Amino acid sequence: MDLNEKRALITGASGGIGAGIAKRFVAAGARVAIADIDLEAASATAAALTEAGPGAAMSLEMDVTREDQVNAGVAQVAEAWGGVDILVANAGIQIVHPVEEFPFEEWKRLLAVHLDGSFLTTQACLPHMYAQGSGTVILMGSVHSKLASPLKSAYVTAKHGLIGLGRTIAKEGGAHGVRANVICPGFVRTPLVEKQIPEQAASLGISEEEVVNRVMLGGTVDQEFTSIEDVAEVAFMFAAFPTNALTGQSLVVSHGWHME
Ligand SMILES: NC(=O)c1ccc[n+]([C@@H]2O[C@H](COP(=O)([O-])OP(=O)(O)OC[C@H]3O[C@@H](n4cnc5c(N)ncnc54)[C@H](O)[C@@H]3O)[C@@H](O)[C@H]2O)c1
Repeated sequence: MDLNEKRALITGASGGIGAGIAKRFVAAGARVAIADIDLEAASATAAALTEAGPGAAMSLEMDVTREDQVNAGVAQVAEAWGGVDILVANAGIQIVHPVEEFPFEEWKRLLAVHLDGSFLTTQACLPHMYAQGSGTVILMGSVHSKLASPLKSAYVTAKHGLIGLGRTIAKEGGAHGVRANVICPGFVRTPLVEKQIPEQAASLGISEEEVVNRVMLGGTVDQEFTSIEDVAEVAFMFAAFPTNALTGQSLVVSHGWHME
């Protein structure tokens, strides 16, 4: 399987998991638009990926919660490359508080990045996919699309919601040759997770070592973090799968933390 001639848009791809997926796609021959709120970092990532080849990358400034920026960015990609074949709605943030202390503004901001962002980017890409009669939407869920953890009410709510969105896109997209799937990673050591270690230690009154060994990895079969490369490989599989037999699914990649 390869992604030769495929045109992908990946949000939140200047670093972390999104950049890892972009790297995997470019290595498989795709052209990838790195869309991120941080244009400077997105441009640096795109330049490095184009240099590595054999595919290529471009960068876009996009706040996924802004309808105007999402529509303009998707239009820019479609104009540059003649269409969009793959969307990976990956941009995400994490904010942890107990429910009773969760500031409403922070709750809304988290839901907007994950849910509005996935909705808006999908809505902007679907007309291009429907016009060509093919396409694949990949939403970035989490083990928290399946399980809850203390302090993560907004994140758990958003990630559960993405399963519903993915299934609905799959139902509607089927008639147009478009599939949709959700990736559900366990803990991956990116900036999003590094930030949580001291925050959770303080909120739960335990050491940072306990947060890593008990809270984050305690449920795994081998006490290992999931890697960016693991998640990128699942994204590649969903993107390159040759038919739409594989649609409406959510796949957990978590060292066995969650099994179903
Ligand atoms: N790291 C993990 O353990 C883990 C586990 C499961 C799921 N995820 C999910 O994977 C995705 C990527 O997470 P990560 O760990 O790579 O995080 P990260 O913080 O390393 O990267 C997130 C990227 O999203 C960008 N971003 C943030 N808000 C944005 C916005 N409004 N518009 C556009 N871009 C924005 C950031 O600039 C950054 O480049 C998220 O959806 C996250 O919930 C992460």
